[in-house]
Amino acid sequence: MAGQLVYIKTFGCQMNEHDSETILNLLIPFNYRPTGDPKKADLILVNTCSVREKSEHKFYSFLGRLKKFKENGNGRVILGVGGCVAQQEGERILERAPYVDLVFGTHNIYLLPDLINKFKESHTPQIATNFNNDNYAGLSPGPFRLSPVKAYVTIMEGCDNFCSFCVVPFVRGREKSRPSSEIIEEVKQQVSSGVKEVILLGQNVNSYGNKVPGELTFPQLLRELNKIDGLERIRFTTSHPKDLSEDLINCFGELSKLCPHIHLPLQSGSNRILKLMNRGYTREEYLSKVKKLREVCPEIGITTDLIVGFPGETEEDFQATLEMVSEVEYDEFFSFKYSDRPKTRASQYPNKLPEEEKARRLYLLQEKQKPITLKKNHHLVGKILEILVEGKSKKDPHHLMGRSGTNKVVNFKGPLSLEGKIIPIKIVEAYQHSLSGCLV
Ligand code: SAH
Ligand code: SF4
Ligand code: F3S
Repeated sequence: MAGQLVYIKTFGCQMNEHDSETILNLLIPFNYRPTGDPKKADLILVNTCSVREKSEHKFYSFLGRLKKFKENGNGRVILGVGGCVAQQEGERILERAPYVDLVFGTHNIYLLPDLINKFKESHTPQIATNFNNDNYAGLSPGPFRLSPVKAYVTIMEGCDNFCSFCVVPFVRGREKSRPSSEIIEEVKQQVSSGVKEVILLGQNVNSYGNKVPGELTFPQLLRELNKIDGLERIRFTTSHPKDLSEDLINCFGELSKLCPHIHLPLQSGSNRILKLMNRGYTREEYLSKVKKLREVCPEIGITTDLIVGFPGETEEDFQATLEMVSEVEYDEFFSFKYSDRPKTRASQYPNKLPEEEKARRLYLLQEKQKPITLKKNHHLVGKILEILVEGKSKKDPHHLMGRSGTNKVVNFKGPLSLEGKIIPIKIVEAYQHSLSGCLV
């Protein structure tokens, strides 16, 4: 049988990007090959995100556009929806879009080949959205990889934190750590196939292993990974400030392969709002952790996530967030307007803010950060940074792109043979979202 083509569109976070990679690897043994062109595909999959209403809207409008691909495909094209919206909505997706053939939740990726077969036999839509942590955590890497240089490695699934605004615990299920032996094996496997950097994934990596008797803690896992020959860089995401331990902070001073960068979502600078968000820390505790991080690793890059317009957020609360932004001096942040999500506690809270007010606060917040990012980037001009070359630059194919240990994007001219190498680059210019440099 000739091979079939599969196209996959991914929305959302790195977990979803990694899940899409896993999905392709799962389908390759069933005679599917990835394509970047939905028009040619026999199987079109959409891996969805429901973290904000806007993410869901983006998915539904994309789905609307896929309708004609299905119609033009004369019964050849199978259309599947997976990920967090699929988990949240289940068969309701079929009510909105009856032309969808498969709906598979976040714990049902491994069932996909089976669902496709059942659909081919019965021509009736297949839905699988049961939670079952046992089958999907251990899906191992395969021939398809997002990058030849860096690899995502899942270390835990789900989340038990139930921040009041967040849908993730409802769509990703309960927190579960993967056995450390499996993680170490997977990292070694990736390294032997040429990977230089691993990015450890979990919604709250800092609590890795805590609920499993005898398992390594997250800092212990990092120390083990740091010993792996041929591995050059370790990153992780995401860190929850409440579980950022002294031991983990010390790793940034101690482990040569751990990149000097941490993404540490603050969400709000107001203690009152942090409490309503159920985040489990105060601004003072957060600041003291930032201070310690900078003591053990002065060059550390710190990034964050912020939400404006949480229910009941006053002007004073918002000012407290602005003050934190000045005080911490982040390298960069992601900022969002609060969005009501199904089943969350905050969606039941009173005093929702009007859209215009949320937009005003978002604008002010982003304006506040711009000069800080630029100042930080300007400080790097003239310095020599160690860059892991990831490949051709997206903006200019005559340039290469790489990242510093602190996660700054650096573009420079050089031969493609440098891909996968860590090389010194002299920074010559600084912009808002990147740096440009030259070979030394
Ligand atoms: N596990 C990560 C967050 C994953 S969601 C953590 O705890 O840090 C990524 C980001 O989306 C969050 O940090 C938050 O800033 C934002 N977010 C989540 N739910 C949101 C909502 N309902 N409205 C607006 N932003 C939200
Ligand atoms: Fe959501 Fe909070 Fe869990 Fe992050 S820690 S995924 S914000 S519930
Ligand atoms: Fe990620 Fe979005 Fe799901 S942020 S976990 S893809 S809701």
